[in-house]
Amino acid sequence: MTLDWQGARQDTPGCETVLHFNNAGAALMPESVLEAVVGHLQLEAQIGGYEAAAQEFEAVERVYDAVATLLGCQRQEVAVIENATRAWDMGFYSVPLGKGDRILTGVSEYGSNFIAFLQVARKTGATIEVIPNDEFGQISIAGLRQAIDERVKLIAITHVPTNGGLVNPVVEVGKVAKEAGILYLLDACQSVGQMPIDVNEIGCDMLSATGRKYLRGPRGTGFLYVREGVILQLEPPFLDMQAAEWVSRDTFKIRSDARRFENWETNYAGKIGLGVAVDYALSWGLAAIERRICVLAERLRDQLKDVNGVKVQDLGQQKCGIVSFTVEGKEPSEIKRLLSQEKINISVSSAQGTRLDMDARGFMSVLRASVHYYNTEAEVERFCTTLASLV
Ligand SMILES: Cc1ncc(COP(=O)(O)O)c(C=O)c1O
Repeated sequence: MTLDWQGARQDTPGCETVLHFNNAGAALMPESVLEAVVGHLQLEAQIGGYEAAAQEFEAVERVYDAVATLLGCQRQEVAVIENATRAWDMGFYSVPLGKGDRILTGVSEYGSNFIAFLQVARKTGATIEVIPNDEFGQISIAGLRQAIDERVKLIAITHVPTNGGLVNPVVEVGKVAKEAGILYLLDACQSVGQMPIDVNEIGCDMLSATGRKYLRGPRGTGFLYVREGVILQLEPPFLDMQAAEWVSRDTFKIRSDARRFENWETNYAGKIGLGVAVDYALSWGLAAIERRICVLAERLRDQLKDVNGVKVQDLGQQKCGIVSFTVEGKEPSEIKRLLSQEKINISVSSAQGTRLDMDARGFMSVLRASVHYYNTEAEVERFCTTLASLV
């Protein structure tokens, strides 16, 4: 079934003002998400924040069911956290690691995650090992298999990197992790919302994601999935009265569901908005969303090849809605600035975001155009024509 992208555009006020190819940065919210967020803020102003949360209890709680449906998990396996980085951190810093333990990761790992590896390695004496890429530029499954031994305590990789269209073979990674009985943490920040994600098919134990990107939710929202069977093995690095109960003067008891990774005060309007955004994505169907995005992205890659000096830089056997490219002799930030004068949004991925990959390919930065299902073939055309006039 094809997705009714005209209907999606009608639901999206921003489509009238910009050509938005920065969906991997923050996508345009649909009207329903905007209304839910603004409506709740207005209610807070009218009747009080605690009272508004109580009155809208079901809408607040809906987000757990919506995310559970999105990922194919149970609601008690979901923690709603303010962004993907903190969600990932809450998972990662809970993993018990000691001297000589090994963390396996990939070349396209996200910068903040790698900084966390470095910090924990420095504190504990654990080591970080980067599995090389295969001939397609995605994580090598043979390389991963070879690296496994009894000292490996964690496999932590990124599904879709911040700087390109690569989709890592996460199901294959999951099989290796499962066979060896190793914890598997997946950063799905750039993939959730643009393709079907099933945590049981992937076989990950933890998965982190954000609300504002392909899910089209409000900023400052994200979530962490933790498999029921491992929740009790993972003690969060921070605890409060949401995460644990103060039982007696000297004792506390940590919650047994994934909300042990949350903290008490939160953005209720954002939480409601995230639930509405996930339901909105589900209403289109993630398979239909992925199909439409891939058609547009392939078209964009194809047409960019005809623009003078442009080179598409995406790696991987399977590619998604993120299209990375360079323009010979031009600074990416200058191209971005010139496009923005034409009301065209894209972004620049700097080396910081994925240092291992960018250093290996000799890039300081790349341009990133990321399409969503509400974009159009005509926008792809206009984008390439405008770019051609600037280079
Ligand atoms: C792969 C990846 N992981 C994590 C993040 C961080 O997400 P957030 O800004 O929601 O913390 C990003 C953001 O661009 C990302 O691309």
